[in-house]
Amino acid sequence: MAPMQNKVICVLVLVSMLALGTLAQAETEACEVEPAERQNCGFPGITATQCTSRGCCFNDSVRGFPWCFHPKAIEVPPEEECF
Ligand SMILES: *[C@@H]1O[C@H](CO)[C@@H](O)[C@H](O)[C@H]1NC(C)=O
Repeated sequence: MAPMQNKVICVLVLVSMLALGTLAQAETEACEVEPAERQNCGFPGITATQCTSRGCCFNDSVRGFPWCFHPKAIEVPPEEECF
């Protein structure tokens, strides 16, 4: 494939990801952390409101692991997948 074509496809991919990706979706993805990898953000018995107001994620569906935890750091910018 010619480099120019490749670049056009790349721009199209980026634009459609921006169009589809809402902030809410990004936050949900960042909160999908394996229970064993969760970094505790709150304290035992913290409420969902207290937790999210700290900028952390709340999920009490897994017992024995932190319910309030730091969102996963998204370090790789999407642009880098293109080159
Ligand atoms: C809570 O975490 C579990 C395990 O990672 C996941 O299966 C579940 O979908 C999560 N629930 C919510 C509401 O995010």
